[in-house]
Amino acid sequence: MKITFTGKRDQKADVYIAMAAKGRVLSASAQQLDDVTNGALTRAMDAAGFEGNSGQSLDIVGPSGVNTGKIILAGLGDLEKVTTRTMEDAAARAYGKVKTSSAKNALLFADLPDGAALQEAEAAAHAGYGVLLKSYRFNQYFTKGDKAKKSTLTKVGVVCADNRKARALYGSLEKIADGVFMTRDLVSEPANVIFPESMAKRCRELEELGVKVDVLTERRMRELGMNALLGVGQGSARESRLVVMEWNGLGTKRSKKKPGPVAIVGKGVTFDTGGISLKPPGGMEMMKWDMGGSATVVGLMKALAGRGAKAHVVGLVGLVENMPSGTAQRPGDVVTSMSGQTIEVINTDAEGRLVLADVLHYAQKRFSPRLVVDLATLTGAIITSLGNEYAGMFSNNDELCEALSAAGDAEGEKVWRMPLTSGYDKMINSQIADMKNVGAGPKAGSITAAQFLQRYIMDDTPWAHLDIAGTAWNDAEKPTVPKGGAGWGVRMLDRFIADNHEK
Ligand code: BES
Ligand code: ZN
Ligand code: ZN
Repeated sequence: MKITFTGKRDQKADVYIAMAAKGRVLSASAQQLDDVTNGALTRAMDAAGFEGNSGQSLDIVGPSGVNTGKIILAGLGDLEKVTTRTMEDAAARAYGKVKTSSAKNALLFADLPDGAALQEAEAAAHAGYGVLLKSYRFNQYFTKGDKAKKSTLTKVGVVCADNRKARALYGSLEKIADGVFMTRDLVSEPANVIFPESMAKRCRELEELGVKVDVLTERRMRELGMNALLGVGQGSARESRLVVMEWNGLGTKRSKKKPGPVAIVGKGVTFDTGGISLKPPGGMEMMKWDMGGSATVVGLMKALAGRGAKAHVVGLVGLVENMPSGTAQRPGDVVTSMSGQTIEVINTDAEGRLVLADVLHYAQKRFSPRLVVDLATLTGAIITSLGNEYAGMFSNNDELCEALSAAGDAEGEKVWRMPLTSGYDKMINSQIADMKNVGAGPKAGSITAAQFLQRYIMDDTPWAHLDIAGTAWNDAEKPTVPKGGAGWGVRMLDRFIADNHEK
């Protein structure tokens, strides 16, 4: 996909795309196209009942007097409410209609009708970003037919008066998209391709961008006492791994006085059969994406390094495969985590929290981070609570929650805060160990999971846990998010870092 920015308005292209707001309010470019075509746009709007609502789009085929065979008018909805996300979606929808047509190139007029709050360069950059995000496909395993087809419309020129500024803004967005795409790829890959060692290898690719990558083997983890993580992986023929990725865009050495890095931690269960507490077969194939949290961490590190973020961020991912076998952990086993706390493993399918217990402890011990955010496809219960609209957020810090919520709202990756209390915490007390890995039956399943994690957070560390079981995988196509691995969290965390932890 090649996206360029240009000031030239009357270039020849197979398709033109222009914008209209609710009430048929045309942008200057759309108005001009209507004028030179002798009112072809107005006639088409009349005929089709096009109002400029968000999600609406209109094709004008074979217009005369212009340098194109097709004009698509994209609806933006209320002009006052237009944001960068509106531009992304509108441009993505229009592009989606023609991306596998006979059209090879398009010219996108990204200017907005007068009265929009968005600057033209910003609108143009995000229109390009929307097209780029839409162009992604995970189709390397199709060998025949339409599904194997690549997008044929691969050149989009975005018209913008301030095209230099638009290009500069787009430069960073393109790097964030690289991160989103890496996350989508990793989430969509099957578990015979992505397992702890192969995932660690993909993490190593980030070294090219200046990320320091450190891979801990099972031997090293045993020395460190990570028995909670290792217990989950012990039934698998695949070895477990812990990968530490460090991006320091501040160019300074760490010192005791400076605040530590931001730490982002991910659950990377490359396949979750449930272990001896085996899952039912229906839908088990979905558990290839139980490494979604770790995939987001990797994609985020790629985005940050790619755009040269002026921030110090460490990403840690615990990679294990949860399998039943003669060597697998049994229900009732007691393990001693790296923190020294003991856990009675009641249900081997509640494995994510066991993995995170050790990674969270290690992250705090090694880096004294200023804050920790973890991401995990942790519980089915969060899908019952929030469906696929919001990820669940659990935290010991109001300020951190506000910053994450704001970033999520801006990027269309939203989080909803859920409670943590001592009453819920009691539900994971065990009769024979410091804690057990499940609460009481199905009650408050995502909260008791979060309470478990909180027991591994040191008192003064601001921490947020994002349960992304409902958002990591996308079942219903959205303008900028295809079905399959969503890449959820890369955009919101990149913005969280940019807005709060960058110089
Ligand atoms: N990986 C699952 C959670 C999950 C479910 C993610 C559906 C994505 C979609 C997790 O390891 C799990 O199995 N959790 C159990 C916990 C229970 C045994 C306490 C669950 O949610 O049922
Ligand atoms: Zn599980
Ligand atoms: Zn799991």
